Amino acid sequence: LWTPAQIIEDQIARVREQVGDRHVLLGLSGGVDSSVVAALLHKAIGDQLTCVFVDNGLLRKAEGDQVMETFARHMGVKVIRVDAEALFLGNLEGEADPELKRKIIGNTFIDVFDDEASKIDGVDFLAQGTIYPDVIESAAAKTGKAHVIKSHHNVGGLPETMKLKLVEPLRELFKDEVRKLGVELGLPYDMVYRHPFPGPGLGVRILGEVKKAYADILREADAIFIEELHRAGWYHKTSQAFAVFLPVKSVGVVGDARRYEWVIALRAVETIDFMTARWAHLPYELLETVSNRIINEITGVSRVTYDVSSKPPATIEWE
Ligand code: XMP
Repeated sequence: LWTPAQIIEDQIARVREQVGDRHVLLGLSGGVDSSVVAALLHKAIGDQLTCVFVDNGLLRKAEGDQVMETFARHMGVKVIRVDAEALFLGNLEGEADPELKRKIIGNTFIDVFDDEASKIDGVDFLAQGTIYPDVIESAAAKTGKAHVIKSHHNVGGLPETMKLKLVEPLRELFKDEVRKLGVELGLPYDMVYRHPFPGPGLGVRILGEVKKAYADILREADAIFIEELHRAGWYHKTSQAFAVFLPVKSVGVVGDARRYEWVIALRAVETIDFMTARWAHLPYELLETVSNRIINEITGVSRVTYDVSSKPPATIEWE
């Protein structure tokens, strides 16, 4: 009989046997998979685990603090937070091509992580949140943008350069099983059932060149959208929802003056497998509340649009 508690016991025993008294390094992203690995390994080997959390400046609002709060403060996990915003944004400067932006973000992540890892003595193992679909995906055709990035974070990439042995306790599990493990391990429900967030983060939700000012606006708009989805009971009825920053100026009138300001697009989809998706038929009242709040509360935005494109042909992300 399969129960989350049994899987956890089993994996704890396997990890202890594999690792012995050696030290393990884990790249913690705040996503479900790496979070569950962190909680599991902490339970299995406690202080022998060190997590590195890279803040790339492209995270959602308050995300970095939430990760530190949950793992470092509440659970007592050893987490090193690396503030690499300036480095990532510097490397991205002047680049508008989506795939090149992904490459830059992936490569910068590896550099930062490698650098941090080299400062920690006596690490023999690298833990990764690889889940079964990642294994399948890597074995299959090596095309597609999701694979390219996943390869930086999960299967392949890091270990060769770092000569570390891999610990991958979720390798045989599907996402829904990983979530159940997370809940059983005591992770917050909201963290475990959060919508997926792409590795390149806001980097692919700011169209074209990424700038800090754009990221700051987008973070606020996205937070308002997500907060209102929760409030209206719609968050868990959608599979993924987020705001997108459009670097075009559109006219708005305030008093007698015409102002030319940025546009925010809202995207919300329903999907089972993320290969096809339908735009979520959110209530007009909800969209109205979100739009009013974004325009009233965020300086520099005077227009909000809702994306009514299905996948295919439109992808879920805008880049
Ligand atoms: P698309 O935009 O291809 O997205 O319809 C399908 C799912 O994949 C996520 N996605 C990514 N995840 N790195 C990631 O880790 C990426 O470069 C990337 N691009 C898209 C997207 O958020 C959606 O869940």
